Amino acid sequence: MDLGIAGKTALVCGASKGLGYGCAEALVREGVNVVIVARGAEALEAAAKKLTEAAGASGAPFVKHVAADITTEAGRAAVFALGHDFDIVVTNAGGPPPGDFRNWDREAWIKAVDANMLTPIELIKATVDGMAKRGFGRIVNITSSSVKSPIDILGLSNGARSGLTGFVAGVARTAIAAQGVTINNLLPGSFDTDRLKGTMAGTAQKTGQDFDTVWEARKKNIPAKRFGTPAEFGAICAFLCSMQAGYMTGQNVLADGGAYPGTY
Ligand SMILES: NC(=O)c1ccc[n+]([C@@H]2O[C@H](COP(=O)([O-])OP(=O)(O)OC[C@H]3O[C@@H](n4cnc5c(N)ncnc54)[C@H](OP(=O)(O)O)[C@@H]3O)[C@@H](O)[C@H]2O)c1
Repeated sequence: MDLGIAGKTALVCGASKGLGYGCAEALVREGVNVVIVARGAEALEAAAKKLTEAAGASGAPFVKHVAADITTEAGRAAVFALGHDFDIVVTNAGGPPPGDFRNWDREAWIKAVDANMLTPIELIKATVDGMAKRGFGRIVNITSSSVKSPIDILGLSNGARSGLTGFVAGVARTAIAAQGVTINNLLPGSFDTDRLKGTMAGTAQKTGQDFDTVWEARKKNIPAKRFGTPAEFGAICAFLCSMQAGYMTGQNVLADGGAYPGTY
C-alpha cells in the first residue's frame, strides 16, 4: 500500500536504535525525509548512515541527525534550529527506571514526568499549529502497554505516561482534528530491543535466574509466544502517519502480541 506521505518531513525522537529507529526506517522507506535524535552521537551517526542507504532506495531527499537530549529545552532548540516544518512527529525517549515507589523522591518523579509527559507535550505544542495551518499533520507518541495494564515496578512510567495519555485524549479532539492533524499513542508490549534486554537482565539478577531463562519465560506469557520486532512496530507507526489513517485520532493503539487480556 502506498501510504501517500512521500516527500513529507518527520522528526523521530529516540531513534538511534530500538522502536524509534524502527519508526524512522519505516518512514524513510515511504519516501519521508527524517530528522532523527538521540544523545549518543556514535550510534546516532551509524543509524543515520543506514537510513541514508534506505533513503537512496526510496527516494527520500534527506536524512539528518541531531545529537541531543530531547527532554531538555536546549535539545529541542537544537532540533528546531534546523528550520524544518515537521509534518510528522514521533515522540520518544528512554523509559524511567524500575523500582519501589517508596524510594522515589520528588526529583525522580519530575525527571519521569519531564521525559515521558512534558517532553511530548512540548513537541506537540511546537509543531501542531503549523501542521494545522498546512492542513496535514501526524503525531505518534510512543508510550507503553503499561498505560492499559500497569507494571508494578514501573510506577514512574505508569504515572507519567498516563498523564500524557489524558492530555492527548483531550488535545486530539480540539479544532486541529478538523484541520488534518491526528495525534495517537502507540503502546508497545514486549519488543526485542536493548531496553527489554536491560529490564530482563535486571529481573534475572533480582531473582537469581539466568538471563535466557527469564527471556524465554517472558515469551511464554505472550499469546504470540515471541517478542515483537522494531520493524513491526515501525510499520504500525508509518500506517498511523499515513494519509489512509486520517480519520483515526486520539487513539491508544496496542501492539503486544495479544498480551493484554481485555476485550476492549
Ligand atoms: N521495548 C519494549 O519492549 C518497550 C515496552 C514498553 C515501552 N517501551 C518504551 O518505548 C520507548 C522506546 O524503547 P526502546 O525499547 O526502543 O528503547 P531502546 O532500545 O533503549 O532505545 C531508546 C532510544 O532512545 C534514545 N534516547 C533515550 N533517551 C533519550 C533522550 N533523553 N533524548 C533523546 N534520545 C533518547 C536512545 O539513544 P541515547 O541513549 O543515545 O539517547 C535510543 O536511541 C521507551 O520509552 C520505552 O520505555 C519499550
